[in-house]
Amino acid sequence: MNVRFASDRPTGAYALALPVRGDDLLTDRLASLPASDRTLVARAAESQRFERELGAVAETFVAEGDAVRRLILVGLGSSRDEAALWERVGGALTAKLLTSGETRLVVDLTGLDVSAADAARLAFAAAARSWRYDIYRTKQPKKQKPTLEEIVVVGAGEGAEGAWGDQQALLDGLSFTRELVTEPANIIYPETFVERCRKRMEPLGVEIEVLDEKRMAELGFGALLGVGQGSVRPPRLLVLKWNGGGEGGKPVALVGKGITFDTGGISIKPAAGMESMKWDMGGAGAVAGAMVALASRKARANIVAVCALAENMPDGNAQRPGDVVTSLSGQTIEVINTDAEGRLVLGDALTWVQREHKPEVIVDLATLTGAMVISLGHEYAGIFSNDDGLAGQLIAAGTETGDRLWRMPMGDAYDKLIESPIADMKNVGPREGGSITAAVFLQRFIESGVAWAHLDIAGMAWSDKAASLYDKGATGFGVALLDRFVAANFER
Ligand code: BES
Ligand code: MN
Ligand code: ZN
Repeated sequence: MNVRFASDRPTGAYALALPVRGDDLLTDRLASLPASDRTLVARAAESQRFERELGAVAETFVAEGDAVRRLILVGLGSSRDEAALWERVGGALTAKLLTSGETRLVVDLTGLDVSAADAARLAFAAAARSWRYDIYRTKQPKKQKPTLEEIVVVGAGEGAEGAWGDQQALLDGLSFTRELVTEPANIIYPETFVERCRKRMEPLGVEIEVLDEKRMAELGFGALLGVGQGSVRPPRLLVLKWNGGGEGGKPVALVGKGITFDTGGISIKPAAGMESMKWDMGGAGAVAGAMVALASRKARANIVAVCALAENMPDGNAQRPGDVVTSLSGQTIEVINTDAEGRLVLGDALTWVQREHKPEVIVDLATLTGAMVISLGHEYAGIFSNDDGLAGQLIAAGTETGDRLWRMPMGDAYDKLIESPIADMKNVGPREGGSITAAVFLQRFIESGVAWAHLDIAGMAWSDKAASLYDKGATGFGVALLDRFVAANFER
């Protein structure tokens, strides 16, 4: 989607959108139209039961010479400090127009006193909502194909163009995450995940390091390699480094669960819905997309991202329930359930990033537990942290971006539940509190003094229904959150 900002409406064909507040005089908003059209638009809105609710739209066609112009009224609601107000407006307009036949949308904000940042947010949402991945559809009817190509925002505050720069970077990151998450597991597996990232990020100046299975075996990644050993697609540890901060400053570490397909392994999952486990790399996808966003806007911070990539398959060589593996940390793990694989690959990735990069803080993202979805549904991701300050920073970034987080507890009582009779720990606790025992398992890999947060995004990486920033499918959850978290707390 092409985005432009202008001080006047362009000439030629376009759909015109006019936002209206609950208390605006409609005649004021329609002042630029001939009197007869004003009446027409007002009556048409009324007959569509348009009540200016936030994101509601009403449509009229008005004559313009011998052409016809589509005119859209979009509601702003009646509260001016509604969170994500302009995102809701931008998203609603794209949802309405994406496949409408219109190629250009002009949103006229003249007279509404909209800041440059809000105008950029509107454009961001409009563009984010238009994201699709249709490369595998060879027979899509023409009527279902997107037509909208350009959004022109008219009458925004001074500097909208500048504010847009960072939003464009974020959009690039978000799109990259959605692409990775949407791709099926025969296309994106550990090696191809690495290659996609290399192709996308090397031109941005991101430094890339890859540990293959041979190197990981030498170093002792027993937990991660155990998960991958049933697959013909070998695991990888992908490391992405962005050095936009000061020399030698301790980095922020981002760690992502990258299970490119999760069958459950020998503890195999039921067939129904198993296809959704192609997005079990959503944590790694979010971390990779965040790096695209950070590098694209040249963030002034040092960030190291680690994607723990493996495919969890049943096989003659797959690990068995009851196997004991030795993790990179040296701690041993009894693998009671091979479907609790995310914590195994993350444990080794956490150890590696602490040894190698001595990060100041670590944030991991993972589609870790079904229990998280039972707890919070699809509204919030769970956050588990050993540091109240860090948790607060992340929760604030979540509130500001709409990637909302809800704090969950940890503690010794939960930690006891993963004691094993044969090894240092087992990889599952009881059914109850399943997201929490997963989190305290990860905590066993965090060295003392390191601030760490774990985000369980199992309910958020994919959506079965559309919202203002996305259509059904991959949401890109976590990208905006991480970008904001870095911007607000770590940039010089
Ligand atoms: N990837 C799944 C968790 C998941 C489930 C994410 C549904 C998104 C939607 C994870 O690897 C898993 O299988 N977890 C098990 C853990 C259990 C065996 C302790 C689960 O949640 O059932
Ligand atoms: Mn699993
Ligand atoms: Zn999984």
